[in-house]
Amino acid sequence: MKKLSSSEFARLDERTRLVLAGRDPEDSYGFVNPPIVRGSTVVYPNTEDFLVRKARYTYGTDGSPTLDALVAAANSIEKGAGVVVTPSGLLACTLALLAAASSGDHVLVTDSVYRPTRNFCDTFLRRMGVEVTYYDPLVGSDIAKLFKPNTKLVWTEAPGSQTFEMQDIPAIVEAAHEHGVLVAMDNTWATPLFFDSHRFGVDLSVQAGTKYYAAHSDVLIGTISARTPELYKQLNAAWHQLGMMVAPEDAFLTLRGMRTMAIRLKEQMPAGLAMAEWLRERPEVARVLHPALPGSPGHDIWKRDFTGASSLFTIELKPVSMKAVGAMLDGLTLFGIGASWGGYESLVLPFDCRAYRTVTTPNFKGPTVRIHIGLENLEDLKADLDAGFARLRAAS
Ligand SMILES: Cc1ncc(COP(=O)(O)O)c(C=O)c1O
Repeated sequence: MKKLSSSEFARLDERTRLVLAGRDPEDSYGFVNPPIVRGSTVVYPNTEDFLVRKARYTYGTDGSPTLDALVAAANSIEKGAGVVVTPSGLLACTLALLAAASSGDHVLVTDSVYRPTRNFCDTFLRRMGVEVTYYDPLVGSDIAKLFKPNTKLVWTEAPGSQTFEMQDIPAIVEAAHEHGVLVAMDNTWATPLFFDSHRFGVDLSVQAGTKYYAAHSDVLIGTISARTPELYKQLNAAWHQLGMMVAPEDAFLTLRGMRTMAIRLKEQMPAGLAMAEWLRERPEVARVLHPALPGSPGHDIWKRDFTGASSLFTIELKPVSMKAVGAMLDGLTLFGIGASWGGYESLVLPFDCRAYRTVTTPNFKGPTVRIHIGLENLEDLKADLDAGFARLRAAS
């Protein structure tokens, strides 16, 4: 295989880049894939080289060929200044906050944020002396009214992974950058394939790689991409200082997942939308929250800024007891009841966000269920839900 120059590589389509990135047969004994390199200690040829750490890899916590291959793949679609990899998606969120905020700083966090990220802000960040204010996810350019002299960062998540409020990222970025404030985004739902966060000015782009990157529900991993070299330096320093190493097997499995990511999402986006449309017509369903579905809240922003959608959305059922919801969900044979998403399998998750939201209380009249559409046949999935709705009616 002839090696491409970096400019030739950059000109390739994202799908091709995901297939090629991080592969160098010369480094892999001729094999297609990079090797899984396990290791703590690196040995040096002599004292002089050791003293100045003259080696491609210097110690296990400084990186490895397997990790570098994954970083190359993530970089190829994030298109920022550099990526660091973390042992979970949650750690990608918390490391981004730790790297950016210092004691005395103020951070603004969307009220629709992933709940464990909120938990970190309420505990660890506050303990560090960082002031945290939650804001209405639909705030748009009015975010500027919430800035204080010590505001350092705005945390966004578009859409919120349970309630699906679609944030106006360009408006938030414009206001933030005018005031010298950084913007971080949890971009797990759209992935860099469907929302080019750095092009929209997002400074720190977070991905729970556990979801559509790894995609087989067998790995926890996260990535953070920095928009500028200065931010990457800061982020990478924090990553090093914390000793945040990822097991090479997990890096390898994630990279393997990423090879097929574009093609999986190409299947999962229309499947998710078709299911959302089907559910919208069901008499038991009051509302479907899926930003890529015409008529759904946030659709106009999605259409303006996003190039695609993943297969995660929420339905609000018409008012019914939780016993009836349990009857529906417990009997499902294809959908598992479980947290996470982005894997090859379909999942459902009942939730009630009213318990922890502090700024905006979503106006749900009936129970809410989040749905992830995997790679099963859509008609089989509809039949499973159809039987579930029959149980819901019978138990109502
Ligand atoms: C939006 C979002 N961000 C981050 C995470 C954290 O990812 P992980 O499960 O890898 O810690 C999740 C997990 O569900 C999520 O939904």
